[in-house]
Amino acid sequence: MNPIPSTQNNVNKPNELKLLRSAEPKVLLQELFDEQGDFDSNKERIKKFVKRFLVYEVPKYNNRITSLQDKASRGSDKNLYSFVSLTDRLIKQCHELENQLDNRLLRKQIQRSFRDLINPWYGVNTFMQRCLEKPRGYPGDYATMEMVYDYKPRPFEKYGFFDHYLLGHASCVRSRKEKLKSYLKTFLASQAKLSPDLTILSLGSGPCREWFELGQRISLQVIPRIHLVCLDHDVQALEFSQGRLSKNQLLEEMKCINESLVTYSNNEWSLEIKLFDLIYAVGSADYFYDESLRRILSRSLTLLKPGGVLLVTHKDSTKFDVAPSEWLCDWSFVARDEERFSHLVQGVLLNSGLVFSWHIERDEIGQMMFGVAKKSKGAA
Ligand SMILES: C[S@@+](CC[C@H](N)C(=O)[O-])C[C@H]1O[C@@H](n2cnc3c(N)ncnc32)[C@H](O)[C@@H]1O
Repeated sequence: MNPIPSTQNNVNKPNELKLLRSAEPKVLLQELFDEQGDFDSNKERIKKFVKRFLVYEVPKYNNRITSLQDKASRGSDKNLYSFVSLTDRLIKQCHELENQLDNRLLRKQIQRSFRDLINPWYGVNTFMQRCLEKPRGYPGDYATMEMVYDYKPRPFEKYGFFDHYLLGHASCVRSRKEKLKSYLKTFLASQAKLSPDLTILSLGSGPCREWFELGQRISLQVIPRIHLVCLDHDVQALEFSQGRLSKNQLLEEMKCINESLVTYSNNEWSLEIKLFDLIYAVGSADYFYDESLRRILSRSLTLLKPGGVLLVTHKDSTKFDVAPSEWLCDWSFVARDEERFSHLVQGVLLNSGLVFSWHIERDEIGQMMFGVAKKSKGAA
């Protein structure tokens, strides 16, 4: 298997935390408002609010978690409960601040200043650091996904608090993967009775963890011959997946397409596999604004066999709080609730001029929507 290239990190150096210099809140605040000019008629009120947050609340938070960390590093106390409640409280303040701000640019800049203030914690936390640095140029790359799936927070004395917090927050990503595996298992079992060969396309395939885990233990009476095509714009993700799936007992064949979903949505398909029994996009739709997402979905519908299925997942914005990933890791998603998601996909289905059935399933936690569109068997 191809190893995941690691990013540089400073783990296991307990004394270094104190040596890293934190940004000066007052200077940050000054720069923030100098950059902005006249952004809002409520400038003074907002300034007061932001000042309280950056100059008082965040440094107070920093002091408290530094003290928790000191105790944990000495082995005297590992108080995850206090860490979580302090961090939850801070995130609640982030929400309150957002409610005061219409200006998106200002919000982004405040978030940046906020991260500058809690900066010492990034250097000692591999997961946080990768999320923030985005070594592949975008959030949620295959190696970050692997860290989420592995779910191995470091011990508290080794700066594990943020690991616990952030990896815990991402539990819906793990439950999404479990739900996907169970969907695939049922799909394979039912389709195997109809056809010995199945063609499957994974859009934004990432580390292909679902196939890796399914291939290790699956008990089906009849296993179809699976021809899997993985599409991802990150060549490292494809190489990693190809390496890990080369001996996968489930897969008859695996092909990789190193292409952007935007190109995919605009271009003709040059692969010899022309049509698919199943196309799925798991963990991709949340990153695309409406028009691009419509094009990706619309293109996918043309690549389905009659009776074929398009499966698209999306976080439910009313159930999953994006603030921890957005504020702590600069990792954002397009917010859609069930109504907005369903409306968008149903519009695409309607426009296709073909007949589809449509329903939404959920992962076990209920934060993830699994939209399932099945093309009518009679459709050409
Ligand atoms: C959040 S990960 C999900 C990976 C995988 N489907 C899973 O569930 O573990 C998103 C994946 O989509 C890929 N991706 C993001 N934007 C893309 C784009 N514009 N075109 C193609 N792939 C993209 C990323 O490289 C990454 O591997």
